[in-house]
Amino acid sequence: MKSPPVFGRMSRQMVQSGTAITVEARAKVNLTLEILGKRPDGYHELRSVVVPVSLSDSLSLACTYAQTVITVTSEAGLDITRLCPADKNLAFRAARLMQARYRLKSGARIHIHKRIPIGGGLGGGSADAAGVIRGLDRLFGLNAPLAELMELGAEVGCDVPALVHGGAVLMEGRGERISGLFGDGARAGCEGFWLVLANPGVMCSTPEIFRKWRAGLTAGRTISHNMISSIRASDVSAAAKALHNGLQTAVYESIPVISETARLLEKAGCLGVLLSGSGASVFGLVRDELHGQEVSRKLEAGLWHVLVRTCPVV
Ligand code: C5P
Repeated sequence: MKSPPVFGRMSRQMVQSGTAITVEARAKVNLTLEILGKRPDGYHELRSVVVPVSLSDSLSLACTYAQTVITVTSEAGLDITRLCPADKNLAFRAARLMQARYRLKSGARIHIHKRIPIGGGLGGGSADAAGVIRGLDRLFGLNAPLAELMELGAEVGCDVPALVHGGAVLMEGRGERISGLFGDGARAGCEGFWLVLANPGVMCSTPEIFRKWRAGLTAGRTISHNMISSIRASDVSAAAKALHNGLQTAVYESIPVISETARLLEKAGCLGVLLSGSGASVFGLVRDELHGQEVSRKLEAGLWHVLVRTCPVV
């Protein structure tokens, strides 16, 4: 069997035990998600405009001479480490991969404070993994090329490379081909959009949702083109018209409470409403912060919702 490549130089990792850094791991929304077909490897070919938002998990990463350990708390002050066992935790897997690839002699003590709903289609687990990859690169002074870190992220999960890259991106392939939308310096005046995220308190299993997907009509490249130009122009009305999620019908049909939540956002006055990723969260684009506050006030107090802003520029 071919052994995995080892990157980086050993001399860069002279880090004292106890040295710590913090990282904000941002959630994402897919403003478009086209499922182009099933691939021979069992995954699906995607084309998706992915944008981080201002809702984040807080990570603290410390160097330790002991083994890598991970603890997780939630916003309610609960220790939920046992709900996120290490073998299923993408952040833990990312840490172990970084250690192996860069021959790190020390372990990492990782604490994740979660605000992003779990199983919510907001890329929480992937954001934490991406945060660990970027964070350990910084903590150990590896200065690895971004492309190398994204490649490593792809081994952890399909959403991870986009979040390692950061900012608004076009994601293609099974998630490993990433193009930043602002690589050409066209960032001036890009303010991002305000949106209300809502989650009805259920979790979606991504593999199950993909299994339920049935091919529908695709509109070629116009969907992503329209979305990309509306992001570059900060034109929220155009973005609302360009919203698209190829998994939405399958999710709304199988879990009615999610489509009911989407209807609540529409009724509250959002410009456009969409399922985020494979669900269970939905989001509604709003004109500005004030409009977002107005929409939020109309939603039931019992429904988890939060007003956020997209962060298109890294
Ligand atoms: O890579 P990740 O673990 O996030 O993917 C979760 C599941 O979503 C995969 O096991 C697969 O069932 C489905 N998926 C897919 N095609 C993709 C991405 C994810 O079928 N491009």
